[in-house]
Amino acid sequence: MTNRNEQLFNRAKAVIPGGVNSPVRAFGSVGGIPRFIKKAEGAYVWDENDIRYIDYVGSWGPAIVGHAHPEVIEAVRAAALDGLSFGAPTEAEITIAEEIGKLVPSVEQLRLVSSGTEATMTAIRLARGYTGRDKIIKFEGCYHGHSDSLLVKAGSGLLTFGNPSSAGVPADFTKHTLVLEYNNVAQLEETFAQLGGKIACVIIEPFVGNMNLVRPSENFVKALRALTEQHGAVLIYDEVMTGFRVALGGAQSLHGVPPDLTTMGKVIGGGMPLAAFGGKKEIMACISPLGGVYQAGTLSGNPVAVAAGLKTLEIIQRPGFYENLTERTEQLVNGFKAAAADNGIDFTADSVGGMFGLYFADHTPQNYADMAKSDTEAFKHFFHGMLERGVAFGPSAFEAAFVSAAHTPEIIEETIAIARDVFQSMSR
Ligand SMILES: Cc1ncc(COP(=O)(O)O)c(C=O)c1O
Repeated sequence: MTNRNEQLFNRAKAVIPGGVNSPVRAFGSVGGIPRFIKKAEGAYVWDENDIRYIDYVGSWGPAIVGHAHPEVIEAVRAAALDGLSFGAPTEAEITIAEEIGKLVPSVEQLRLVSSGTEATMTAIRLARGYTGRDKIIKFEGCYHGHSDSLLVKAGSGLLTFGNPSSAGVPADFTKHTLVLEYNNVAQLEETFAQLGGKIACVIIEPFVGNMNLVRPSENFVKALRALTEQHGAVLIYDEVMTGFRVALGGAQSLHGVPPDLTTMGKVIGGGMPLAAFGGKKEIMACISPLGGVYQAGTLSGNPVAVAAGLKTLEIIQRPGFYENLTERTEQLVNGFKAAAADNGIDFTADSVGGMFGLYFADHTPQNYADMAKSDTEAFKHFFHGMLERGVAFGPSAFEAAFVSAAHTPEIIEETIAIARDVFQSMSR
């Protein structure tokens, strides 16, 4: 049989660097041929060989109501018939801002952009403009998109500033970024004690989804809020992944601690390019045209993307949506844990709302160094074993995965049975 995926990958590599438009899609860390997807519906995606997969990538988060939900498609179709982009304000942009503000009360005002990267990049600029300070804190293992000052790895010691983690980023651009350890309260306290008056903001994934799933401790969350308040720094929750994914009100509704600014993406666009940053009115007033912090976008608030987002936000507010999503996700991780234990595999799993992490380790990791010790070879076996049997996960051991409302209890059980088979093959 001709392998269309392989043919397309070879063709793509001639005209697109690495054959992909976002690096993780290239299967670099797991090996093998990426699946080229031709169609998605509900809990499934189909590749170019016409093979169907139960999908736990969910477009890396947006597909919370299931792929190609008929109501979302209809909303997109209706919006498209009225024109694809105007470069002028529309009523639907107000409606979605009102809707998000209702669900996430710390977001008093927001601005729409087209990607999570734009949202975090601008939130950082805004925090710097608002405070008049340059230095920022991020945490190792958190990903906030690919803007220069956030592509940073930890320096050699505490209070040494980060080094660029990407070629092409001048060290001068990252010299103001401090990279601290997630869940390390003492380090955070020490940093604020020494540099508090110079720190513009702390940006954090309030549940991390980019080093697999990592939860913050309660003390860590409290310390973040208390220290930023005490030192006049802006606390930014990057909820691009967790927003409307872990709960209707995002991670902040679970932590019970509101940030000053929030960034969002993924779910709010329902699969279309839409993201946002927002928060306290006083801070948002610093953005152009009201204030001196510049930000703009030709396609910002695109009417078709906003239509998809509004319909998605409507569906997720229906009774029982998050209860079901959470239950299905727990059913999945509990089934995986039991299947692994029965086969003597070092494995654990965790979930929050519709987001989950699988760890080939004997405990749930607390930070990046801990996560980096997990068994990536075991993950590779698991990943390919599942893929060959028709279940798709993200091609990396360090990414969270996602359940959608279209994943029925039967689909979850089918997935667990397949995982049991894969764990069995790994235990031999
Ligand atoms: C927490 C977080 N912030 C920011 C981003 C960047 O978003 P985008 O890929 O839309 O630029 C991502 C992407 O995965 C993310 O997970």
